[in-house]
Amino acid sequence: MSFKDKVVYQIYPKSFCDANGDGLGDIQGVIAHLDYLEKLGIDYIWFNPMTVSPGNDGGYDVADYRALDPIYGTMEDFEELSRECAKRHISIMFDMVFNHTSTHHEWFQQALAGDPYYKDYYIFKKGKSPGIPPNNWQSKFGGPAWEYVEAFDEWYLHLFDVTQADLNWTNPHVRKEMQDIINFWRDKGVHGFRFDVINLISKRGFDDDPNNFDGRQFYTDGPHVHEYLKELNTHSFGLDEEGLTVGELSAATINNCIEYSGEDSHELNSVFTFHHLKVDYKDKKKWHVQDFDFAELKELFNTWQTGLQKHKAWPALFWNCHDQPRSLSRFGDEKNYPLESGKMLATAIHMMRGIPYIYMGEEIGMTNAHFNQLSDYRDVESLNAYKILLEEGMSEEDVMKALQAHSRDNARTPMQWDDTKYASFSDHQPWINVNPNHDQINVKENLEDPNSLFYHYQKLIALRKQYQVIQEGRYVPLLEDHPQIFAYKRETDQEELIVINNFYGQETSFSLPLSDDYDILISNYKDTTISSEGHLRPYESYVLYHRKD
Ligand code: GLC
Repeated sequence: MSFKDKVVYQIYPKSFCDANGDGLGDIQGVIAHLDYLEKLGIDYIWFNPMTVSPGNDGGYDVADYRALDPIYGTMEDFEELSRECAKRHISIMFDMVFNHTSTHHEWFQQALAGDPYYKDYYIFKKGKSPGIPPNNWQSKFGGPAWEYVEAFDEWYLHLFDVTQADLNWTNPHVRKEMQDIINFWRDKGVHGFRFDVINLISKRGFDDDPNNFDGRQFYTDGPHVHEYLKELNTHSFGLDEEGLTVGELSAATINNCIEYSGEDSHELNSVFTFHHLKVDYKDKKKWHVQDFDFAELKELFNTWQTGLQKHKAWPALFWNCHDQPRSLSRFGDEKNYPLESGKMLATAIHMMRGIPYIYMGEEIGMTNAHFNQLSDYRDVESLNAYKILLEEGMSEEDVMKALQAHSRDNARTPMQWDDTKYASFSDHQPWINVNPNHDQINVKENLEDPNSLFYHYQKLIALRKQYQVIQEGRYVPLLEDHPQIFAYKRETDQEELIVINNFYGQETSFSLPLSDDYDILISNYKDTTISSEGHLRPYESYVLYHRKD
């Protein structure tokens, strides 16, 4: 199967649509809106985990890989979803959280009960001395990455929350369990798999981090990760030629990504990397916010696009997901140019080489939550950060600003279907507040306006299906040193595409050798003109096409 013409839509199920009035989204809520997604034109829906979980990390703390959490519905609901998706030629992508399980998982409970078979499913180590963990690694959600278990006088590793215990992938039984879980969902008709933080599964020893950083050099892209992925591929998803896989990779290097997603690697089809979403981190610290560094952003896109294509490896293309603040608030101008900047960001990412992902609400211009009190936040990472940043001496005001800019809850507010009280997400107070701007930003408004962001996304998806150059063309950076414009060319032997995006609210100009024989495929201003001495208005963006023969 070729996945090069495919586009994925991501649903955070808890926040998409609540059909049973408990304030939480569910599977029936998704079914109710499949016509909307069909209209948009997407091929896959990636669902964040819907399996049984205590929900300490939004379902990424899995307590049972084979059962759906009742908050989302039953297996019958899932089967109905699967049938309804199939009718609309939409495939389902599931989220496999294989680096860790919830401590509520039966395996961990058996381990705690002293069963050596299951204890070896996890990573238990002796402390350095009484009360001192085995090493100085830090959890990605703050605090030490180890938790003490008195009964064993040992500590278990948790790179994330204390209720997310890392699995021991050196144990072949663990690896076999993972294959079986994938095959279980394949049998239920799931064709796509997203692998959560999959490049952390192989640990490179357990020494102290000499730089007193967080230990990531010991577990990122570890020594056996490629071997484990090849094995998983051979025994599970690789048996499905129609499937699509993507690895979520934390701080992965380009060379490793080439191996994860190279056409001949027999690992994954594609990779999510996050380097481009750290350009507004001051000194690489998530909670130290700065304006985004445009030069770095461009540099990263150009390096990764050209680097991966050279080795036939494939990136996921995205600005948004459930872990990121909303791109419109972050890289666009939600106040003065919401439509122009929203369309520009969409065009810039969708015309690149790779597989585009749209995160629910992105296609209608949803923005950050702008929560101004701590009690509005729900996410474990944000709540931990609040405490830690205050302890580190940041002022309360700055902490709140940091959360407003970078909290994952920005992405998790309910989908805005219309302007009614709870935006028609639910008829009940939702688990997290609806953004008050749903009175203006919502699906209904978008569908009624032919010039809306929704129809721009719809067109971008249709263009990808229509033009081979968008699917497969070579990526060539243009105007590399321009301080405001991100531009590139895509090229095959027969076709050429030029993509020009002004990333700022100020006008600018450029010169490129453009002739009359280009067509405008899509733009975000009505009266775009083509000229070698180009002039761009605020956030202006367009795509030019030319057939060579
Ligand atoms: C991934 C998920 C994130 C989760 C983490 C731990 O980064 O996207 O939401 O918190 O893994 O599973």
